[in-house]
Formats: sequence, C-alpha cells, structure tokens
Amino acid sequence: MTALFYLSRGTRLALYRNRILASGELLQSFKLDRYRVVVSGLVLSNQLAVCPFTTLAYRPVYSCQRFSQIRGFVTGRSETKASSEFEQQGKEELNCKMLPVKPFERLPKTVVPVHYDITIKPDLVKLVFEGHESVTLKVVEPVDQIILNSLELELENIRIVDEAGQETNISKVVLDVENEKAIFKLDSVLQPGQYHLKLGFKGAIIDKLKGFYCSKYLSADGEERYSGVTQFEPTDARRAFPCWDEPAVKATFDITLVVPKDRVALCNMPVVSELPYEADPNLHVVKFDRTPIMSTYLVAYVVGEFDYVEERSADGVLVRCYTPVGKKEQGRFGLYVAAKVLPYYKEYFGVEYPLPKMDLVAVADFAAGAMENWGLVTYRETCLLVDDQNTSTQRRQWVAIVVGHELAHQWFGNLVTMEWWTHLWLNEGYATFVESLCVDHLFPEFKIWTQFVTDTSTPALDLDSLKNSHPIEVPIGHPEEIDEIFDDISYHKGAAIIRMLHNYIGDDDFRRGMKLYLTRHKYGNTFTEDLWAALSEASKKPVGSIMSGWTKQMGFPVIRVSARQEADKRILQLSQQRFLADGTKDENNTMWMVPIEIATSRSPTTPSKSFVLEGETAEVVLDDIRPDEWFKMNPGQVGFYRTCYEPELLKHLVSAIDHQTLPPLDRLGLLDDLFALVQAGHSSTVEALTLLEAFANEDQYTVWNRVCSALSKLSHLLAYTEHHELLKSFGRQLLGGMTRKLGWESKPDEEHLTKLLRSLLLGRMAMFDDPEVIAEAERRFQLHIKGEEQIPADFRSTVYKAVLRTGSRSKYEDLLRIYREASLHEEKDRVASALGTIKNEEILKEVLAFAMSNEVRSQDTVFVISSVASSKLGRDLAWNYFKDNWDLFNERFKGAFLLVRLVKSLTENFASEEKAIEIENFFKEHHCVGTERTVQQSVESVRLNAAWLGRDAEAVGIYLTSKTNAAAVE
Ligand code: BES
Ligand code: ZN
Repeated sequence: MTALFYLSRGTRLALYRNRILASGELLQSFKLDRYRVVVSGLVLSNQLAVCPFTTLAYRPVYSCQRFSQIRGFVTGRSETKASSEFEQQGKEELNCKMLPVKPFERLPKTVVPVHYDITIKPDLVKLVFEGHESVTLKVVEPVDQIILNSLELELENIRIVDEAGQETNISKVVLDVENEKAIFKLDSVLQPGQYHLKLGFKGAIIDKLKGFYCSKYLSADGEERYSGVTQFEPTDARRAFPCWDEPAVKATFDITLVVPKDRVALCNMPVVSELPYEADPNLHVVKFDRTPIMSTYLVAYVVGEFDYVEERSADGVLVRCYTPVGKKEQGRFGLYVAAKVLPYYKEYFGVEYPLPKMDLVAVADFAAGAMENWGLVTYRETCLLVDDQNTSTQRRQWVAIVVGHELAHQWFGNLVTMEWWTHLWLNEGYATFVESLCVDHLFPEFKIWTQFVTDTSTPALDLDSLKNSHPIEVPIGHPEEIDEIFDDISYHKGAAIIRMLHNYIGDDDFRRGMKLYLTRHKYGNTFTEDLWAALSEASKKPVGSIMSGWTKQMGFPVIRVSARQEADKRILQLSQQRFLADGTKDENNTMWMVPIEIATSRSPTTPSKSFVLEGETAEVVLDDIRPDEWFKMNPGQVGFYRTCYEPELLKHLVSAIDHQTLPPLDRLGLLDDLFALVQAGHSSTVEALTLLEAFANEDQYTVWNRVCSALSKLSHLLAYTEHHELLKSFGRQLLGGMTRKLGWESKPDEEHLTKLLRSLLLGRMAMFDDPEVIAEAERRFQLHIKGEEQIPADFRSTVYKAVLRTGSRSKYEDLLRIYREASLHEEKDRVASALGTIKNEEILKEVLAFAMSNEVRSQDTVFVISSVASSKLGRDLAWNYFKDNWDLFNERFKGAFLLVRLVKSLTENFASEEKAIEIENFFKEHHCVGTERTVQQSVESVRLNAAWLGRDAEAVGIYLTSKTNAAAVE
C-alpha cells in the first residue's frame, strides 16, 4: 500500500496502522484507502506545510484525486499557521470525489547526480542510437540500491566505481516500466561519498516527437532523410539516456556526439573539439563544452542538415538561426528578434544570460510550438521562419512572441527552475507575461498589451469558470498527468494574474523583485511562494497573501456592483462571489483578495480609486462625480475578475461605447464580461446582441476581435437551431460597414493593427457567407492559381476558406495541390485549416482520411481534424471518425499533448445533453491517458452550450428576425 500526500520540505512520512505519521506526529485527519488518502476530519497538526491543506480545502474534488498519488511530495516551502486556520480549512475538505489514479513516487534523494558525461552515437538511417555515460554521484545516506529514470532503453555494462576505482557489484537490475524507472540493487551498502555510475545504453530514434526523435525532410535532390532532434520536456530525457529526470535534480553535462562529418551537430553549449572517429572515417566526434548546472528536461541536441544566419547581440552573445538548407533568409526575422531580446532581458532582469551562444533551430516535425532548451531553442518551422512574400502579418507577430517567450525561459525556467511540475506555471505563466513585455519593447506598433486581453485573459477566464478547472498550482504525480497542465490555466491565467500583480505593485518594484528572485535562486529551484517573497520584499506589499488565493484556489470572482448618487458623490456597493459558468452559487464560498481599480469618465485611463477588496463586500465612495458621468470597474481589464453591473449602470456605459469615450480595452471588457454573464444565465443573449450593435463604428482591431469571437460562439450554438442564417445576416450587417471601409487593398505605411483588422473582418464576412467577399475571393483565387497574381499572404487563409465554402471538388483539388506543392510550412497550415470548411459530406470524409495519411505530418493532423470539427456538419463526422479509428489515434498520439488538443476541439462545441453523455461514455470505455480533465471540461462545456440554447434560442430567433425585417425595410 502506498500512502501519499503533500508535505513541506523535510517532513517525513511513515505509516502507522491506518494513519499517517508525519515527522513523528499522528495525523488523525487522514484515512488510508488502498492508493489514496481520504481526508475525513480536521487537520490537527500545525507542524505541517500549509500547502496540502489549503489546496485541498479550496478544491476538494480536484485536489483529492491528485492528492493521493505522491509520497513525500513537496509542494511548498514550510510555513506554519495557527491550527485554528487549518481547522477552518479542514472543514471544507470533505466529500472528495475520487478518480482512479496511478500511485507515484518521486526519486529518492539519497543518491543524486552531480555531473553527467554522455556520449551519443545516432544512426539516422537505421533510426537507432547507442551511447554511454558516466554519472558522478553523491551518495548522501547509506543505500543498497540506486533508482533513476530510464524508459525504453536497453542498458548494458552497468558499473559503480568509487573515487579509488573500487567497484561495487550490482546484484540485480530491475526495470520498472510502469514507473519509468531502473533500479540497480547492490551487493553491498554504499556509504556516503562520491561515486561514478558507468553504463552503456541503446534505443530507437522514434517518430513520436519526444525523447530523441526523428524528423523527416527532403534533401536538395529530393531524397527523404531524417534529422535527429530532442524534446525532453516534461519527462522524456529518460528515453534518451538514463538520468534523474526531475526538474529539481540539477547537474552539469558534458555531451559528445558521434555523427557523420557532413551533418550539423548542435547541443546546449558550443563545440570544444572535433576529432576523427577511428572506427569509421565518415564519422567524427564532436565534443561540446560543459553546461551550467541545469535540469535534464532542458538538455538538447540536434543532428541534421541546416543553413544558418548569425549575429552577435549587443551584449556579446553569438546568436544563430538554423533553417532548412536553402532557406536561411527566412531565419533573419527570428534572428533579429533574438539578438535584440537577449540584451533587453539582461537589462530587465538585471542578470546576464550565462551561456556564450544562443541557437534557434527550425525543426520540420515538432509537437509544441517551440521549446526553450538552454542555448538551443527548437521551434516548429511556422513559429520561427518568416518569408517576406508568404508570411502573414499575424504569423510574423506570432514568431516575435514565440521567440520572446522561449528566450524569457532562459532566465525564468532555465536559470531558476520550478521545483516540481506543480509549479509549471512559474515557467509558463511568467514567460507568457514577459513575452508581451519584450514584444512591446521591440514592436510598439503591435500594441501587444491591447491584444493581451483577447488572447490571454479571456481564454483563461473562460476555462477557469468551469467547475472542472484546476488551481494554477496543481498537484502532479505520475508523468502522465503533466501534459494536460500545459493549458490555458498555467499559461494564460498565470500570465494574467502576473499582469494584475505587476499593475498592483508597479513596474519599478516588479523589476526589483524579479532581480532579487533571479539572483537569489539562480541555478536553483523554486516554489511559487519564493516568487511572492521576492516581490513582497521589493514592493513592501503583502504579495503572498494576495496572490496565494489566485494560485491555490481555482476560479475567480465576479464583482457585483450597484451604486447610488448622493450630492456629488457616488456610493458603490461591491460584493464578490466565485463566478461559475453554469450560473450556480459556489458552495465553498471561495473568496479572493482582489486588487480593484475604478476609472471615471473624467479620468478614463488613470484609475481614480485603487484598493484591495478583502472581504465579501465593500462600500466605496467616488468623490466629485456628476450623475451623468460614468465609472467603470477594472480599467484596461487588468484584474482577473468579471464585473456585473446593475442594469442602470450598464446603460450608462453602453452610451459611452457609442460615443467612444470609453477606452478600447474597456469597451472590449464590457462585452467580454457581459458575454460571460449571458453564458451563465445571469443576463440574456438578446441583451448581448443589443450591446454588439453598439460596436458597428468601432475602429480598433482588439475590440473587433472580441466582437468576432462573440459572434463565432453564437454561430456555433445557433447552428443547432433554425436561426443560424439570421445570425449570419446580423453579422454581415454589423461588420459590413467597416469591412467595406477597409477594402481589400492595403495602403502604403498602413498600421500593423489595420492589417490585422482587415484580415479578421474579411475572414469573418466569408464565414457569414457575404456574397461580395466570396465573389472577390473567387476572383483572386482564380488569378492566384493561374499564376497571374499572387494573393497577399494576409488574405490567403480567408480566400481559401471562402472558395471552399461554396466550393466544388475542383476547388478542393486545387487546394490539395497547393498543399502538396507548398514548401513553406505556413502555407500548408493555411490550407490544412481551410480544408474543413467545405460543405460536402463526401469530401469532408476524404479530408479526415487525408489528415491521417502520410501526406500530413502527425504534428499537423490536429489542425486538419479541428477544421473539420469547426462546423456542425463536420463535427459529427470528425467525432465519429475519431471514435471509429480510436485505436489508430491512440496508437499515434498516446501520451502526446496533441491528443489533449484534439479531444478538446472535437468535443467542446457540441450542444446537447445526449452528446455530453455520449462523450462521457466513450471516454469511460476508451481510457485516453492524460486527457481525463480535458474530457470533463469538454463535457461540462457541452452541457453549458445546451443550457444556453434551451434558455435563449427562442428569444434570439425573435430578436434576429426583427432585425432582419428592419434591415429589409430600410
Ligand atoms: N516549454 C514549452 C514547450 C512545451 C509545451 C513542452 C508542452 C512540453 C509540453 C514552451 O516554452 C512553450 O510554452 N511553447 C509554446 C509557445 C509559446 C509562445 C506559447 C507552445 O509550444 O505552444
Ligand atoms: Zn513556455
């Protein structure tokens, strides 16, 4: 039996009858049940870390199911609180819903690696590799076995030698496949001291986009070849060499690659020597410099054929951008960004980039968008390469963001690393915040902070309003659980609450705090609270008390606001409650410390009130405000909460939209909040449609972006009613004016955001079947395929989708040809995500088969299938196809986070109870490892969609009909 739960650092566990002993104290509050710990009473000890109990207390359902998996699992630095507080929290810990979970233990700390000396010899034709390593070990306590991670590797010649060359016999090697571990049982006990573990290993270079994997490319003369690439995050270094594969077990690495002389070989550090390989004159031995002390998931090496461009950054780092052969010009933009960003971060964080070089490599087959390996960042081609003629404005912006994000990790993640995956958000949320800082610095014209709300905050709020959300700090055990938390909570909620905090303490204190944090913990590991400690010290504000509620509890509040005027004062009544997408009341009565700001029409951008809402309610007085003047909560939508105004107040604000006296992000914010309230049934869809109409004269890209996503959501829903056509007509009316104003031709020196706006509106109008837009798209498409006039990259996606909507088989075939002939991956992606717009069932089935064919790289399969699943007709086809071919999907994507994304996009837009049940049942019978929470979230979304339709569809139909009639009369 495994007893498992969270404890502070240094707390030890033992079993005593049916109870757990923690550091010698009996915890009467825990009862054990086979693999789980069931919380059944109050926590009586105040010697324990606060983490386990607060996490549990806040989110019993979720936490408990994870809670049980980890023995001696440290989730926070120790902190002592009065036992009365534990008792208060303990009361909420009951009634946990349990899911079956795999037991899991972290590696023992009795033996730790200090240094690895690794040699790898890949064979990129047979797709296998062999290697050997010598790991310098520190034995901390006497041990009779050594446990480390190893997966799908054949191990040989395992030896343990002490400093004097004395060998200790290994009596038995146990491969614990389930737990991805190798256990070397020793003949005698190893006493504390330094030893060397030496062993050889062999493995396959797999095509699964993880571990040491192969990526296919065509040589100049059309021959299919493979490069060898690594992707180790989160837990796949163990597939490439046996190691202590946990982020907190840091060591230095000397890496040597034995590779063909005509291939480029890259690693985290620069080359120190290249020597002949005696056994084979075609190979040579490339030795790389020693790395700083670092985590295994950041080790990387790449062997293949590449060209590169290079530049030295202002602070002396050699930056290179590696591209496919013949495409080095496409690396210029990424190179530019990287070379500029390194000195910017150095200055911002006040800490140097510690390596002498930074390589960026575009890899043809890549699961994520990019990976921050220290000194050797790998990218999907579409996230790094920019082709002047064929890259869209949107893509170019994305490349800047991705480069900014990965380079931020070089400090945040690589230099200072999360102690465990529970704190993944420290890496990802933080990098997602900082990417905007640097992109704003390099490209102020992108106005990236205005895009932050729609791209980052809103998706996070949406996901976090589900009952099946999870806290930012999420208990993680078995590796299978990790992929799923690379989600909108870790990235987007993480970034959004950092932005809220940045605003609360101000940029100067924030920078000072960051510098303190990075300096204090460099080359080390941290818990979330370490970040709060540094920021508190720098700002002298209670950062930890405010922020822990946001990271340890799931969800966020809705602030309800009512007001009365007294003479020249406005008295506001505020109250908070957790916002739940289904409109129910939060049974746990969760509270947050909410930094609140309020702006008024006299001072629309600088808040006239700032304070922290601590309890459930507060009264706030705005001085010097006339009855006709408005106030708005949360200016700039910086706070991670929703606002619900009483109707009278909202009316005031709507007229401020009409007159554009409300700043853009606040216009957007009103709509965003109202839509969420509509989904929760607190407000009606008709009210939201009325608000949408106030945006007809809008001129800001970001605001339109939110308007369009609101329309898309409605369109998805109304596709299940007879009002779909009416909605499209409403959309055409709303977007028509601005679309015609912008036209298809871009003007010289046009603003970046205008370009984005034009692409956005044309794309939407095509989706709303606007005859003019579709006709123009057809015309341009003809010229394009005849080779007479290229469609500008910004419109290609729109045109492809538009021509397919009404399209015949011949258009489909034209597009397949474009796909096959495209050498730029971005172009293939554009076609891939257009294919599903065709409205022909037979062809859609072919598209699904195409997605799984070997013409589509498995990294892109998800795009194609998601595009099919984006319409009502295609959704059923795609879902059925997925179910029918389950074994194939499972085999190809098992344990890959792409599967998480696929499951989400296939299921979440259905809108009936029957589908919710069907999805639930399917995944009950077909266990889809690592997607458990995603399935629960999707099922919840499907039920929310169904409830929404049930509530509002009829009224929406009546409203839209009246609008169409009115338009006809005009
Ligand atoms: N560390 C991640 C890459 C990653 C993701 C590894 C999932 C393992 C599993 C990287 O820093 C990242 O976040 N990449 C993003 C791009 C970024 C700009 C949001 C991605 O791949 O989507
Ligand atoms: Zn990242």
